[in-house]
Amino acid sequence: MAIQDLANGQAAAPASDAGGRSGGDDIKAHFVFIPIMFQGHLIPAVDTALLLATHGALATVVVTPSYTSRIRPTIDFAHTSGLPVRLLELPLDLAAEGLPAGADDVDKVPPDLWTNYFRALARLRTPLERQLLADADVAHPVTCVVADFCHPWAKELAASLRVPRLCFFSMCAFCLLCQHNVERFGSYDGVADANELVVVPGLERRVEVSRAQAPGFFRDMPGFEKFGDEVEQALVEADGIVTNSFLEMEPEFVAGYAGARRMKVWTVGPVSLFHHRTTTTTSASRGNTAAIDADECLMWLDDKEPSSVVYVSFGSLAQANSKQVIELGLGLEASGHPFIWVVKNAHQHGQDVIEFLHELEGRVAGRGMLIRGWAPQVMILSHVAVGSFVTHCGWNSTMEAVAAGLPVVTWPHFADQFLNAKLAVEVLGIGVDVGVTEPVMYRMDLKEIVVGREVVEKAVRSVMDGGEEGEERRRRARVLAAKARDAVEEGGSSYGNLLDLVKRFEVDTAGCVVATA
Ligand code: UDX
Repeated sequence: MAIQDLANGQAAAPASDAGGRSGGDDIKAHFVFIPIMFQGHLIPAVDTALLLATHGALATVVVTPSYTSRIRPTIDFAHTSGLPVRLLELPLDLAAEGLPAGADDVDKVPPDLWTNYFRALARLRTPLERQLLADADVAHPVTCVVADFCHPWAKELAASLRVPRLCFFSMCAFCLLCQHNVERFGSYDGVADANELVVVPGLERRVEVSRAQAPGFFRDMPGFEKFGDEVEQALVEADGIVTNSFLEMEPEFVAGYAGARRMKVWTVGPVSLFHHRTTTTTSASRGNTAAIDADECLMWLDDKEPSSVVYVSFGSLAQANSKQVIELGLGLEASGHPFIWVVKNAHQHGQDVIEFLHELEGRVAGRGMLIRGWAPQVMILSHVAVGSFVTHCGWNSTMEAVAAGLPVVTWPHFADQFLNAKLAVEVLGIGVDVGVTEPVMYRMDLKEIVVGREVVEKAVRSVMDGGEEGEERRRRARVLAAKARDAVEEGGSSYGNLLDLVKRFEVDTAGCVVATA
């Protein structure tokens, strides 16, 4: 385990030699990012680290071995751009928690051993602390820990290092506030049916949600009761919150959440816009190696009319069952629109699905493209030919749609996705909902068909055509994208928040952190 400059595969040079944009000796803030190793959390954390580096900070990103190669291209790009970013690879002690070899890859954690996985993560604290102290660079001591909210143990780590700690959320303030308010005001108390809708208290607008849709972090996971309390306590004691959102999109919810938590919320997104300054190769491999050649994909898109293609993907976790896969494919075919459909774990389906997909490809040749595996999502979404996004409403995908100015078809599966869908449809007015009301687990084994082919077809037609209503939705999406771009440009809210973070968490000449939130 070591801090490495993985671009060169060697021990890192001190940051002062790393050639950061503002010059190594000018670096006064050093953020240690501790993401959790889910792509939907890791990817935005890495982008945020890079954004802080572009604003003059040193950023160290902690990663477990299975994920190093997935973020290496982005880190390599940062190095060639002279950004002071370092990776700190630490293995999990899997054996100590009874986990099988390879289970630091979350796709390989046995379903009944999730509590063990989280305990193994907590064991990172001691080696991480030891490593950070051993690598302590007098010129660039750690000045702030930025830990995913799923790492409550980072509280003790930061205390031990005597530095402030920020909680990182790859979620919007609307979701965080709704979730917080239903818990704070006991909205589910006495509500026996988990699918009964309650009105979210403390909001100016009426938003309804059920306990099944928004149970709270780790609140619906057997075995995680105590852990859920620890997560909440670590959040209460944090020195602030960093989110991949932007102020102009949801000002009332950012203010509402900051007020409710009585702490500063730094919105720094959309963080995917960092990739506007990377190369096609780098953005195509954001988060993983793409299962399709980037140039081939771009050529296919170049051949299509502007705003004509529907992009369909359900993120890094959700897995549809076989009947649902077929139903979705038939709906896309019937819609008549060109589409790119990302089919996760296609090889794990039975022969019926494999044959169906093969035949579908034949029927829609030239009009429909299937990507079996990891798609270069941000690269695809930013192509002018793409006109809408059928999404599970993971927050990153939602933000990436917003950044690209695309209306969405909302098909939430679990976690924060129902609230994100509500934000897109009811608040931002850029979404068409498929009408799913109950969550499915990420392996989707509860129900066979959740959304029928006719519903898929109708939703796609509605988001791509949809008359005046459709045009208005598309206009709102374009306006929002312009605001998103402004937010990350010099003078914008997210740009300002990144600068503020760097300024607040710098050290003074005595080696003390200047300010906390
Ligand atoms: C998880 C949760 O499910 C989600 O609800 C939460 O908001 C974040 O963590 P995930 O389901 O993977 O995330 O979805 P999402 O938030 O959209 O993140 C996926 C990320 O992986 C996005 O940045 C997306 O661009 C990227 N991705 C995913 C690809 O680049 N290619 C793919 O094929 C799949």
